[in-house]
Amino acid sequence: MKSDATHDVILNPATLPSHVAIIMDGNGRWAKKKMLNRVKGHEQGSQTVRSIVTACGKLGIEMLTLYAFSTENWGRPKHEVKALMMLLKKFIVSQKEELKKNNIRLNVIGQMHKLPTDVQEELDAAIQLTKHNKKMVLNLALSYGSREEITTAVRKIAKKIKSKDLDYKDISQDLISDHLYTKEMPDPDLIIRTSGEYRLSNFLLWQAAYSEIYISDTLWPDFSENEFIEILKNFQERDRRFGKVECSTSNDG
Ligand code: FPP
Repeated sequence: MKSDATHDVILNPATLPSHVAIIMDGNGRWAKKKMLNRVKGHEQGSQTVRSIVTACGKLGIEMLTLYAFSTENWGRPKHEVKALMMLLKKFIVSQKEELKKNNIRLNVIGQMHKLPTDVQEELDAAIQLTKHNKKMVLNLALSYGSREEITTAVRKIAKKIKSKDLDYKDISQDLISDHLYTKEMPDPDLIIRTSGEYRLSNFLLWQAAYSEIYISDTLWPDFSENEFIEILKNFQERDRRFGKVECSTSNDG
């Protein structure tokens, strides 16, 4: 019998990243390589989304954030934006019962109000359906951009200062975090980007302060559960110091 990749894996649950965030890149290049339309790349990319969400559930990752549509992606050709929205809707409609069954809560970060109404309705329904789920959070970044997120947060804080609900001296890092879409979420421990590009592309810029970053050369539609597990193993071997030094190796004792 063919064994499932996760059955063979030796990952220490204690050092697994709690929050993994992924910049899913390379759908267009995958399609081009196969002489296909870019939309075919996004379709195949949706299949990869399914398999990685399932893998995260099985492996015990508590939060998965996927950069599915950026504020900049609105500038793509109309037909591509339309196809991406259709794929997103299809994914939600086809996966919401699966998410419920697997105890996964769906959440959205970004300008959800900018999405087409029918997509918003499906997202709302799936968010409601899964709201009591506890095992894992699937966070979809939709019409998301860090600069927009931070700008919106600054505006909200300024409004509270103006109405005297807040004093400017109350502004702290925690207060800023509390005004972001990711309020009450842990920062990502690990950010993966596929397709060999070394950029964050306006993704979780505030939250990525101490994230480990892994760049994979694989194009997102080809990204597999096996490679994901290898990346988790690589993460577990890293020494995260958060700007500090190990006491045993420091000269000042
Ligand atoms: C980047 O590839 C990918 C996107 C802009 C969209 C990601 C969307 C999906 C994976 C499918 C739908 C999402 C869900 C959650 C079901 P690219 O088009 O920039 O690729 P390229 O850089 O090779 O052109």
